[in-house]
Amino acid sequence: MTRVFSGVKPTGHLTLGNYLGAVRRWADLDQRQSDALFCVVDLHALTVDHDPARVRRLTRQAATLLLAAGLDPELCTVFVQSHVDEHTRLSYVMECVANDGEMRRMIQYKEKAARERERGGSVRLSLLTYPVLMAADILAYGTDEVPVGDDQAQHVELARDLAVRFNQRYGHTFVVPRATRPGVAARVMNLQEPASKMGKSDDSGPGIVYLLDEPDAVRKKVMRAVTDSAADVVYDREERPGVANLLEILAACEGRDPEDLSGVYESYGALKKDTAEAVVELLRPLQERHKALCADPAYVEGVLRDGAEKARGMAKPMVDTVYRAIGLLPA
Ligand code: AMP
Ligand code: TRP
Repeated sequence: MTRVFSGVKPTGHLTLGNYLGAVRRWADLDQRQSDALFCVVDLHALTVDHDPARVRRLTRQAATLLLAAGLDPELCTVFVQSHVDEHTRLSYVMECVANDGEMRRMIQYKEKAARERERGGSVRLSLLTYPVLMAADILAYGTDEVPVGDDQAQHVELARDLAVRFNQRYGHTFVVPRATRPGVAARVMNLQEPASKMGKSDDSGPGIVYLLDEPDAVRKKVMRAVTDSAADVVYDREERPGVANLLEILAACEGRDPEDLSGVYESYGALKKDTAEAVVELLRPLQERHKALCADPAYVEGVLRDGAEKARGMAKPMVDTVYRAIGLLPA
């Protein structure tokens, strides 16, 4: 069995990028061949300015959406990070393995810290150490594979480096994990700013398709997507990022290759129309299941309670072993 672990931060409503880059692949995994854990990583949502009530609400919503997307709690473990203390227990130890230089080199840290400083705000220390907590999330479960979008590749690479370093210094303890990325739509771009990732915490709503957007809102956003002034509809990520993004979204919805769709469309209008309908159809069953699950909050709470218990049972022996290996006296 392959051990799989991945997570999503409750910093905003989940987007089409989250779904195509990560969540849909979690649901598509052969849940019988892999032993998978999926986590709403709420501690990570505290690394930036946050509203406590909103984080709570988004945590519940993200968990509900994971189930709506098809994660089967009979076959995999769905839980909330802060319900399992082992993550923070291990994170501290991994801070003693990581060094400050490698933290400061993380692209996401550099970008987010720069943005925060531009606004005249201060940067939370946890934003710098965040990738260590993420490494702890992964390593606590002996994870083999981490299905993520492209933006998380560097963080998973760090988790690998820390695992290897720990094993060399203190004896073989950790499995060295690897990131897996989707073939198509590993980085879905903002429809209004095709040079930027479609990120759920960004403010520019018109360029972001949220999983719970009504069909008409989806259509409007896709139809207004920024393309370019060239006439032909060809796939070229460098030169034609807006069109390439639409072709990738359409290809991902239909299980096709964007190269095969290159040159098929006569106009941007036709491409946008098909893309909008493909996204609406992709989201329809998920939205229906989400609605049904919202009517039964006790069920979702039960899943999370059982999930946390299962996760704790897996992580505790690993973290106890790590504590002993690094020189801490057993209690
Ligand atoms: P986050 O929203 O940062 O918590 O991301 C949760 C998962 O979704 C991670 O695996 C990300 O790599 C993935 N993801 C987020 N945004 C996108 C995007 N625009 N395109 C593809 N994958 C994404
Ligand atoms: N940092 C990831 C993101 O922003 C979320 C995350 C936290 C994660 N811990 C993880 C993803 C462990 C995979 C494995 O998307």
